[in-house]
Amino acid sequence: MTRKKIETALIAAGRSKRFTQGAVNSVIQRASSLVFNSVADKKRATAGRADGELFYGRRGTLTHFSLQDAMTELEGGAGCALYPCGAAAVANAILSFVSAGDNVLIAGSVYEPTQDFCTKILSKMNVTTTWYDHTMGDAIADLVQPNTRVVFLESPASITMEVQDVPAIVAAVRRRAPEAVIMIDNTWAAGILFRALDFGVDISIQAGTKYLIGHSDAMIGTAVANQRCWAQLRENSYLMGQMVDADTAYMASRGLRTLAVRLRQHEESALRVATWLIARPEVAAVNHPALPQSKGHAVWQRDFTGSSGLFSFVLKARLDDRQLADYLDHFEHFSMAYSWGGFESLILANQPEELAAIRPTGGVDFSGTLVRLHIGLENVEDLIADLAEGFARLTKMEK
Ligand SMILES: Cc1ncc(COP(=O)(O)O)c(C=O)c1O
Repeated sequence: MTRKKIETALIAAGRSKRFTQGAVNSVIQRASSLVFNSVADKKRATAGRADGELFYGRRGTLTHFSLQDAMTELEGGAGCALYPCGAAAVANAILSFVSAGDNVLIAGSVYEPTQDFCTKILSKMNVTTTWYDHTMGDAIADLVQPNTRVVFLESPASITMEVQDVPAIVAAVRRRAPEAVIMIDNTWAAGILFRALDFGVDISIQAGTKYLIGHSDAMIGTAVANQRCWAQLRENSYLMGQMVDADTAYMASRGLRTLAVRLRQHEESALRVATWLIARPEVAAVNHPALPQSKGHAVWQRDFTGSSGLFSFVLKARLDDRQLADYLDHFEHFSMAYSWGGFESLILANQPEELAAIRPTGGVDFSGTLVRLHIGLENVEDLIADLAEGFARLTKMEK
């Protein structure tokens, strides 16, 4: 059978009769204890506890199994582990594969708490971290050491949005360390705009908090692994007590049903805003993977099937604290908040020196203030008008 188109797959995934029991959506089965009808039942459940038998709440209920099935199908893996948030997914995926004396090779541009996990937690376990420049492809081979056990990517780069050449990186790592486990934080692509496992990555991680949930009202993490890595990821995550409640798992499944249409709108509006920004005299650069002038654009075009709503732009000016407050405090439709992926538009600013401080591999080659936008589902004309007023405030300040 040919692979279903993604819109169709998102509607059908995880909705087998076992999980829906006559309804359209999966049941919400809240449980710690799951009752066995007989000794034989208990025996069967125990034998199949890692393979979808109802055993004990921490192994999951029908609600979790439904989401896990859906994610496994959508990302083309052998199984999906669930976590209480994206940071837990990142930490536990790495922890599942490293031992004392190992090395983790990780992009210097990953989400800051992922970096902190390496420097503050892995270091205590005698696991060393080597940073690679996220714009390098094949040259990563020179950084792979005999004890490199995990290679961790995030593409596009956090905040500056450069796209990595994943196939080149995977090929180079496999040449030097065939057993290394290659993981990617695939949150920007919502796991579906970039099919990481098809490109040889072993584990695709998402902060489902963003696009899967899609409404900024719950947190969850997912990690879909291939056949080689699934059993180890599953068992280690289980032993580290990783689980999410049934209601949140349900909300993630619910989010899947509208993911394609939401993403399409995020993409369309973000591209409109990004294109508008390029022409603005206040703007030095726009970092959006789908724009030809953005770093890694050709790779994005080759490997991704679309873009989402998060991107950044660099102002020609470096705003001082007062200017920054005047600029950011008065938007009507853009709220200032961490996170992204919800229905609402968000704005945050970073000074170049702040970014440089969290880039162990350097590469912050601009001097103006960087602004990161998440383009939500509002009417795009309203968003552009709001941004135009923001620029007008900047101009007024200069006078
Ligand atoms: C790229 C990326 N990965 C992981 C995370 C962590 O996700 P969570 O906040 O659900 O722990 C975030 C959160 O902002 C993120 O942006």
